[in-house]
Amino acid sequence: MEIIHWLIKKARQRIMDQQYSIDQTLAGRYKIENVLQNGSYGIIYLCWDLSANQRCVVKQMRKSKKKENTENYKQETTILQLLDHAGIPKLIETFEYEGEQFFTMEFVEGKNVEDTLFDTKQKYSEKECLEIVKKLTAIICYIHEKSVFHGDIRIPNVLLHQDELHLIDFGLAHNLHTDDKAKEHQEQLARDDFFDIGDFLLFLLYSSYDGETKRSRPWTEELSLHPKTTHILKRLLQIESPYHQCEAILADIGEAISLLSASH
Ligand SMILES: Nc1ncnc2c1ncn2[C@@H]1O[C@H](COP(=O)(O)OP(=O)(O)OP(=O)(O)O)[C@@H](O)[C@H]1O
Ligand SMILES: [Mg+2]
Repeated sequence: MEIIHWLIKKARQRIMDQQYSIDQTLAGRYKIENVLQNGSYGIIYLCWDLSANQRCVVKQMRKSKKKENTENYKQETTILQLLDHAGIPKLIETFEYEGEQFFTMEFVEGKNVEDTLFDTKQKYSEKECLEIVKKLTAIICYIHEKSVFHGDIRIPNVLLHQDELHLIDFGLAHNLHTDDKAKEHQEQLARDDFFDIGDFLLFLLYSSYDGETKRSRPWTEELSLHPKTTHILKRLLQIESPYHQCEAILADIGEAISLLSASH
């Protein structure tokens, strides 16, 4: 039965979603160089912007998911326009072409952390993990200050390139300027982002874990971490008194990095 549903879904996508190919030009401006992702919600193209003479990323909404997508599309484009941070790609424009909805944003160099960890098998030391998470947290502090809550901080939504880190994918974000309902849950939304930072940090820390992961053993036993790092993680994951202020997380991470530097 499940396979029938899957086949119907794919057939529906084929009929409803126009997909463009390499070398085609969208709206006379964006020449497709590559298809980066053919995801369930959208198609992401790497393009050459013929008018600005630079690379960019074009996101096309799937018509077959129009109901779910319209809100995400509006959220993501409004938020990208509102934010101005070196760690977040800027919105270039939104446009319609052949009845399809698109938006374009700056191209960011690098690989997402999911691919970095699982394909490249990159290993990070505890200090390197904290340095990466410090950059991510600084971006979160900035967006929270702008009354934006990301809502989907995960390894595929963070791009790394040498010393640079970018946070992408604001499709599930909440913007208090436009979302009155979110205002009532502001604290919870902040805590959810903090929890996700903790989860993200755990993924990075496990990159250097060589042992066998056993369900019965918690991370506190599997990973041998500096007590300060364990304390930060417990607060982020709400095992101990949760953080209320993003700046407090940044300060603690800075302290943990100094402690680790001093002990080596
Ligand atoms: N501005 C960008 N610069 C470079 N690569 C990008 C950019 N935006 C997205 N990508 C690449 O495309 C991938 C998916 O992007 P994004 O997370 O925004 O899509 P999505 O909405 O989550 O799609 P899906 O629902 O299919 O996961 C990223 O992991 C990244 O590799
Ligand atoms: Mg994503």
